[in-house]
Amino acid sequence: MPQLIAGNWKMHCLAAEAVALAQGVAAGAQGIEAELLVCPTALHVEAVARALQGTPVAVGGQDCHQAKQGAHTGDIAGPMLRDAGATWVILGHSERRQNHGETDELVREKTLAAVAAGLTPIVCVGENADQRAGGQETEVVGWQLAGSLPKPFAGVVAYEPIWAIGTGKTATEEDVALMHAFIREELVRQFGDDGQTIRILYGGSVKAANAASLLAVPNVGGALVGGASLNAGEFLAIARAAQAG
Ligand code: 13P
Repeated sequence: MPQLIAGNWKMHCLAAEAVALAQGVAAGAQGIEAELLVCPTALHVEAVARALQGTPVAVGGQDCHQAKQGAHTGDIAGPMLRDAGATWVILGHSERRQNHGETDELVREKTLAAVAAGLTPIVCVGENADQRAGGQETEVVGWQLAGSLPKPFAGVVAYEPIWAIGTGKTATEEDVALMHAFIREELVRQFGDDGQTIRILYGGSVKAANAASLLAVPNVGGALVGGASLNAGEFLAIARAAQAG
Protein backbone atom coordinates (compact mmCIF):
# COMPACT_ATOMS: atom_id res chain seq x y z
CA MET A 1 0.00 0.00 0.00
CA PRO A 2 1.43 3.45 -0.81
CA GLN A 3 2.11 5.82 2.04
CA LEU A 4 -0.49 8.53 2.66
CA ILE A 5 0.69 12.12 2.88
CA ALA A 6 -2.11 14.22 4.34
CA GLY A 7 -2.14 17.98 4.86
CA ASN A 8 -4.15 19.32 7.77
CA TRP A 9 -4.64 22.98 6.93
CA LYS A 10 -6.35 23.63 10.29
CA MET A 11 -7.96 27.11 10.50
CA HIS A 12 -5.84 28.65 7.75
CA CYS A 13 -6.49 30.18 4.31
CA LEU A 14 -9.25 32.28 2.83
CA ALA A 15 -11.12 30.62 -0.04
CA ALA A 16 -8.93 31.90 -2.88
CA GLU A 17 -5.78 30.94 -0.95
CA ALA A 18 -7.11 27.44 -0.30
CA VAL A 19 -7.92 26.92 -3.98
CA ALA A 20 -4.50 28.24 -5.03
CA LEU A 21 -2.75 25.97 -2.51
CA ALA A 22 -4.72 22.96 -3.75
CA GLN A 23 -3.86 23.81 -7.35
CA GLY A 24 -0.20 24.12 -6.39
CA VAL A 25 -0.25 20.65 -4.84
CA ALA A 26 -2.06 19.16 -7.85
CA ALA A 27 0.38 20.78 -10.26
CA GLY A 28 3.29 18.89 -8.71
CA ALA A 29 1.53 15.62 -7.97
CA GLN A 30 2.51 13.82 -11.15
CA GLY A 31 4.97 11.00 -10.58
CA ILE A 32 4.49 10.98 -6.80
CA GLU A 33 3.85 7.45 -5.59
CA ALA A 34 2.31 8.43 -2.25
CA GLU A 35 -1.41 8.96 -1.91
CA LEU A 36 -2.08 12.68 -1.46
CA LEU A 37 -4.78 14.29 0.65
CA VAL A 38 -5.52 17.87 1.67
CA CYS A 39 -7.91 18.83 4.48
CA PRO A 40 -9.06 22.44 4.30
CA THR A 41 -11.55 23.98 6.69
CA ALA A 42 -15.06 22.59 6.01
CA LEU A 43 -16.15 25.86 4.44
CA HIS A 44 -13.63 25.35 1.63
CA VAL A 45 -14.05 21.63 1.02
CA GLU A 46 -16.37 22.16 -1.93
CA ALA A 47 -14.22 24.76 -3.72
CA VAL A 48 -11.06 22.73 -3.13
CA ALA A 49 -12.75 19.53 -4.30
CA ARG A 50 -13.85 21.30 -7.47
CA ALA A 51 -10.32 22.59 -8.07
CA LEU A 52 -8.91 19.08 -7.60
CA GLN A 53 -11.36 17.25 -9.83
CA GLY A 54 -9.50 14.94 -12.20
CA THR A 55 -6.26 15.14 -10.17
CA PRO A 56 -4.87 12.42 -7.87
CA VAL A 57 -5.23 14.67 -4.80
CA ALA A 58 -8.14 13.82 -2.48
CA VAL A 59 -9.98 16.17 -0.12
CA GLY A 60 -10.94 15.61 3.49
CA GLY A 61 -12.63 17.38 6.38
CA GLN A 62 -11.06 18.07 9.78
CA ASP A 63 -13.98 16.87 11.92
CA CYS A 64 -17.60 15.79 11.60
CA HIS A 65 -20.56 15.38 13.94
CA GLN A 66 -21.59 11.96 15.19
CA ALA A 67 -25.18 12.41 13.97
CA LYS A 68 -26.07 12.40 10.30
CA GLN A 69 -28.36 15.42 10.71
CA GLY A 70 -30.27 17.24 13.41
CA ALA A 71 -30.51 20.28 15.66
CA HIS A 72 -26.78 20.87 16.19
CA THR A 73 -26.07 24.54 15.57
CA GLY A 74 -22.69 25.16 14.04
CA ASP A 75 -21.86 21.50 13.47
CA ILE A 76 -21.20 19.68 10.21
CA ALA A 77 -22.39 16.17 9.44
CA GLY A 78 -20.42 13.48 7.60
CA PRO A 79 -22.92 13.29 4.70
CA MET A 80 -22.49 17.07 4.19
CA LEU A 81 -18.73 16.70 3.86
CA ARG A 82 -19.19 13.79 1.47
CA ASP A 83 -21.73 15.79 -0.52
CA ALA A 84 -19.24 18.65 -0.81
CA GLY A 85 -16.62 16.33 -2.32
CA ALA A 86 -14.67 15.07 0.70
CA THR A 87 -13.73 11.39 0.80
CA TRP A 88 -11.71 11.52 4.05
CA VAL A 89 -12.08 13.10 7.48
CA ILE A 90 -9.64 13.68 10.35
CA LEU A 91 -11.22 12.77 13.72
CA GLY A 92 -10.12 13.14 17.33
CA HIS A 93 -7.26 15.51 16.56
CA SER A 94 -5.66 16.61 19.83
CA GLU A 95 -6.79 20.18 19.16
CA ARG A 96 -10.40 18.91 19.05
CA ARG A 97 -9.85 16.75 22.12
CA GLN A 98 -8.33 19.71 24.02
CA ASN A 99 -10.36 22.67 22.75
CA HIS A 100 -13.71 20.93 22.43
CA GLY A 101 -13.50 18.29 25.14
CA GLU A 102 -13.78 15.38 22.72
CA THR A 103 -13.56 12.03 24.48
CA ASP A 104 -12.54 8.64 23.10
CA GLU A 105 -16.20 7.60 23.17
CA LEU A 106 -17.25 10.62 21.10
CA VAL A 107 -14.41 10.04 18.63
CA ARG A 108 -15.60 6.45 18.26
CA GLU A 109 -19.15 7.63 17.50
CA LYS A 110 -17.84 10.16 15.00
CA THR A 111 -15.76 7.45 13.35
CA LEU A 112 -18.84 5.26 12.90
CA ALA A 113 -20.76 8.22 11.47
CA ALA A 114 -17.93 9.06 9.07
CA VAL A 115 -17.73 5.52 7.72
CA ALA A 116 -21.52 5.41 7.35
CA ALA A 117 -21.28 8.61 5.28
CA GLY A 118 -18.70 7.07 2.95
CA LEU A 119 -15.71 8.90 4.41
CA THR A 120 -12.42 7.26 5.36
CA PRO A 121 -11.55 8.36 8.91
CA ILE A 122 -8.08 9.31 10.12
CA VAL A 123 -8.29 8.84 13.89
CA CYS A 124 -5.66 10.75 15.87
CA VAL A 125 -4.04 9.62 19.10
CA GLY A 126 -1.04 10.88 21.06
CA GLU A 127 0.23 11.72 24.51
CA ASN A 128 1.01 15.15 25.98
CA ALA A 129 4.38 16.29 27.35
CA ASP A 130 3.55 15.45 30.98
CA GLN A 131 2.38 11.97 30.07
CA ARG A 132 5.59 11.33 28.14
CA ALA A 133 7.71 12.74 30.96
CA GLY A 134 5.88 10.34 33.30
CA GLY A 135 6.58 7.36 31.03
CA GLN A 136 2.84 6.89 30.38
CA GLU A 137 2.86 7.39 26.61
CA THR A 138 2.04 3.84 25.58
CA GLU A 139 -0.60 3.47 28.28
CA VAL A 140 -2.31 6.69 27.13
CA VAL A 141 -2.19 5.76 23.44
CA GLY A 142 -3.36 2.22 24.26
CA TRP A 143 -6.46 3.60 26.02
CA GLN A 144 -7.14 6.03 23.18
CA LEU A 145 -6.95 3.23 20.60
CA ALA A 146 -9.19 0.96 22.64
CA GLY A 147 -11.76 3.73 23.18
CA SER A 148 -11.71 5.59 19.86
CA LEU A 149 -11.74 2.84 17.23
CA PRO A 150 -14.97 1.01 16.42
CA LYS A 151 -14.90 -2.65 15.45
CA PRO A 152 -14.40 -3.32 12.58
CA PHE A 153 -12.28 -0.29 11.75
CA ALA A 154 -11.95 0.81 8.12
CA GLY A 155 -9.62 3.75 8.40
CA VAL A 156 -6.21 5.11 9.26
CA VAL A 157 -4.63 5.90 12.63
CA ALA A 158 -2.42 8.97 13.12
CA TYR A 159 0.06 9.08 15.99
CA GLU A 160 0.59 12.73 16.87
CA PRO A 161 2.47 13.35 20.11
CA ILE A 162 0.97 16.63 21.34
CA TRP A 163 4.35 18.02 22.40
CA ALA A 164 5.57 17.72 18.78
CA ILE A 165 2.63 19.54 17.17
CA GLY A 166 3.51 23.00 15.91
CA THR A 167 6.53 23.14 18.18
CA GLY A 168 9.27 22.27 15.70
CA LYS A 169 10.16 19.39 18.05
CA THR A 170 9.88 16.05 16.31
CA ALA A 171 9.80 12.69 17.98
CA THR A 172 13.08 10.88 17.39
CA GLU A 173 13.12 8.00 14.93
CA GLU A 174 13.50 5.72 17.94
CA ASP A 175 10.43 7.21 19.68
CA VAL A 176 8.44 6.81 16.48
CA ALA A 177 9.64 3.24 15.91
CA LEU A 178 8.71 2.20 19.46
CA MET A 179 5.30 3.86 19.42
CA HIS A 180 4.35 2.68 15.94
CA ALA A 181 5.36 -0.89 16.84
CA PHE A 182 3.20 -0.61 19.96
CA ILE A 183 0.26 0.74 17.94
CA ARG A 184 0.66 -2.09 15.42
CA GLU A 185 0.58 -4.61 18.24
CA GLU A 186 -2.56 -3.00 19.69
CA LEU A 187 -4.27 -2.95 16.28
CA VAL A 188 -3.55 -6.65 15.78
CA ARG A 189 -4.80 -7.35 19.30
CA GLN A 190 -8.02 -5.41 18.59
CA PHE A 191 -8.63 -6.42 14.97
CA GLY A 192 -6.63 -9.58 14.31
CA ASP A 193 -5.09 -9.86 10.85
CA ASP A 194 -6.89 -6.70 9.66
CA GLY A 195 -4.75 -4.80 12.16
CA GLN A 196 -1.64 -5.64 10.12
CA THR A 197 -2.71 -3.50 7.18
CA ILE A 198 -4.14 -0.41 8.89
CA ARG A 199 -1.92 2.53 7.98
CA ILE A 200 -0.37 4.39 10.91
CA LEU A 201 0.63 7.96 10.10
CA TYR A 202 3.11 10.03 12.07
CA GLY A 203 2.30 13.70 12.71
CA GLY A 204 4.12 16.46 14.58
CA SER A 205 6.50 18.98 12.95
CA VAL A 206 7.00 16.89 9.81
CA LYS A 207 8.80 18.92 7.15
CA ALA A 208 10.80 18.27 3.99
CA ALA A 209 14.05 18.14 5.97
CA ASN A 210 12.98 15.31 8.31
CA ALA A 211 10.38 13.50 6.17
CA ALA A 212 12.65 10.90 4.57
CA SER A 213 13.99 9.59 7.88
CA LEU A 214 10.57 9.57 9.62
CA LEU A 215 8.83 7.92 6.67
CA ALA A 216 11.45 5.17 6.55
CA VAL A 217 10.69 4.01 10.11
CA PRO A 218 8.98 0.59 10.21
CA ASN A 219 5.18 0.74 10.64
CA VAL A 220 5.02 4.36 9.46
CA GLY A 221 2.39 4.43 6.72
CA GLY A 222 2.60 8.12 5.93
CA ALA A 223 2.46 11.54 7.52
CA LEU A 224 -0.16 13.97 8.79
CA VAL A 225 1.35 17.38 8.14
CA GLY A 226 0.22 20.67 9.69
CA GLY A 227 2.28 23.83 9.17
CA ALA A 228 4.42 22.49 6.33
CA SER A 229 1.31 21.56 4.32
CA LEU A 230 0.47 25.25 3.86
CA ASN A 231 3.28 25.53 1.31
CA ALA A 232 2.71 23.43 -1.82
CA GLY A 233 6.42 23.01 -2.57
CA GLU A 234 7.25 21.88 0.96
CA PHE A 235 4.26 19.50 1.06
CA LEU A 236 5.26 17.98 -2.29
CA ALA A 237 8.84 17.56 -1.09
CA ILE A 238 7.51 15.59 1.89
CA ALA A 239 5.42 13.48 -0.49
CA ARG A 240 8.44 12.77 -2.68
CA ALA A 241 10.25 11.47 0.40
CA ALA A 242 7.50 8.89 0.95
CA GLN A 243 8.15 5.21 0.38
CA ALA A 244 6.67 3.51 -2.65
CA GLY A 245 3.95 0.94 -1.94
P1 13P B 1 2.51 20.44 12.65
O1 13P B 1 2.97 19.69 11.41
O2 13P B 1 2.29 21.92 12.38
O3 13P B 1 3.34 20.16 13.84
O4 13P B 1 1.02 19.91 12.97
C1 13P B 1 0.82 18.53 13.07
C2 13P B 1 -0.63 18.29 13.12
O5 13P B 1 -1.28 18.60 14.10
C3 13P B 1 -1.26 17.66 11.94
O6 13P B 1 -2.55 17.23 12.23
